[in-house]
Amino acid sequence: MAKITTASLLNMKQQGEKISTITAYDASFAKLFDQAGIHAILIGDSLGMVLQGQDSTLPVTIEDMAYHTRCVKRGVEDTLIIADMPFMSYATQEQALANAALLMQAGASMVKVEGGAWLNDTIAALVERGIPVCAHLGLTPQSVNIFGGFKVQGREDNKAQQMIADAKALEAAGAQLVVLECIPAVLGEAITKALTIPTIGIGAGKDTDGQILVMHDALGIACNYMPKFSRNFLKDTGDIKKAIELYISEVSQGNFPADEHIFK
Ligand code: KIV
Repeated sequence: MAKITTASLLNMKQQGEKISTITAYDASFAKLFDQAGIHAILIGDSLGMVLQGQDSTLPVTIEDMAYHTRCVKRGVEDTLIIADMPFMSYATQEQALANAALLMQAGASMVKVEGGAWLNDTIAALVERGIPVCAHLGLTPQSVNIFGGFKVQGREDNKAQQMIADAKALEAAGAQLVVLECIPAVLGEAITKALTIPTIGIGAGKDTDGQILVMHDALGIACNYMPKFSRNFLKDTGDIKKAIELYISEVSQGNFPADEHIFK
């Protein structure tokens, strides 16, 4: 597989090829996923929940993220590496620049930030300084206390319209990718059509340009529960590399997500 860049992902959207991404937090899994042909790996701050056993992503620190990014980097040859900026690490532009630099120096090729148009100036500042940005809209887990729980977002018409406007503003600010989490499938489709940059869905329907899963969910090994939008690919294969190859092929053929994984 050739080295994947943000330009490759844009090209995939333009060609109508589905993008498969997954989280990883260490070198061994990252190497396996890279060899299986995954397009991008996210070192997600979900590590607070699936590795550390916390009940949210809020306790995750920039040091945690830099450590796991360095681990993943050592396992990867071709896959694009995206690292999450943790809670409050980009509250001001100065913090965002300093903390994004730490993640890029740890081995990331892109950083991800959660939130809407309030991030425009921060995204523009990062991009101007050579740091590619992935935005994240919908159920943004760092705002779980504002949402009052891990709930589907964008069900009301005004909220859906706001999310479409935010997505366009983030693209205009320079974001090169957008993760859409836990939103109705029709909204996932509308945002995908409104943008020229690729959208990556997790519980956002089948019409986003790509999909992402937390690796523990895709392998059915999460300690809490299996989210509605996920599927245990290890159950079908009994082998981790084959499970990820199946995930990639199901995404590419439009078989995942299926109806049962979608919020209507
Ligand atoms: O932290 C994470 O793993 C994420 C994905 C769920 C998109 O943000």
